[in-house]
Amino acid sequence: MDDLILIRPDEGYLAWIREFRGEFAGCLDWLHGAQGLKHYEDPSEWLRYLALCGNESTVPEGDHLYSQFLCVRQTDGKIVGMVGVRHRPVGPLETWGGHVGYCVCPSERRKGYATWMLREVLPYCRSIGLSRVLLTAGDENVGSVKTILANGGVLENHVVSPKHHIPVGRYWIELS
Ligand SMILES: CC(C)(COP(=O)(O)OP(=O)(O)OC[C@H]1O[C@@H](n2cnc3c(N)ncnc32)[C@H](O)[C@@H]1OP(=O)(O)O)[C@@H](O)C(=O)NCCC(=O)NCCS
Repeated sequence: MDDLILIRPDEGYLAWIREFRGEFAGCLDWLHGAQGLKHYEDPSEWLRYLALCGNESTVPEGDHLYSQFLCVRQTDGKIVGMVGVRHRPVGPLETWGGHVGYCVCPSERRKGYATWMLREVLPYCRSIGLSRVLLTAGDENVGSVKTILANGGVLENHVVSPKHHIPVGRYWIELS
């Protein structure tokens, strides 16, 4: 994993963001940890939206304070994954969303990237004052469950998501 970095998105990554989003077009997976990217055909607009979400005083109504990271493979510059942090998940997010979400582009899976991304973002979570983080994953999402467990996640309970009608595991990672 020496060639990976977590970096905040900026204009220099527009082409790679477009490519990353494009890889998800043909698959049913959600772009977890990419804060609404699927709704933004123009990555510049997405960056503007992220900037609003990253500042307490400009967070759009109904949204939440949020920090986005790109996982970039330095050898070729490709964005292989994204991970995002909700500073204070409230309401339904407290139950079904949690603090951290992530996704790895379909062609780059099962290389340990998600496990690496989650590990690398935890110090940031600590830096914004969190003492533990909540992550959620359905039991059927074996890759995500293993990613969480490999980073010290402890299962608290299962809740049934009203949206998907399947049990979702809620896991906590202590940051002390
Ligand atoms: C879930 C996801 C992030 C995993 O990414 P990844 O980079 O492939 O994960 P890793 O390579 O770090 O794999 C972690 C472990 O899960 C296993 N794994 C990954 N995908 C798997 C799958 N589809 N089936 C079974 N095991 C899987 C890996 O083999 C690895 O196991 P190991 O530690 O025993 O070797 C990726 O599949 C994805 O982006 N899915 C769509 C978005 C999503 O569901 N995000 C999570 C929200 S809860």
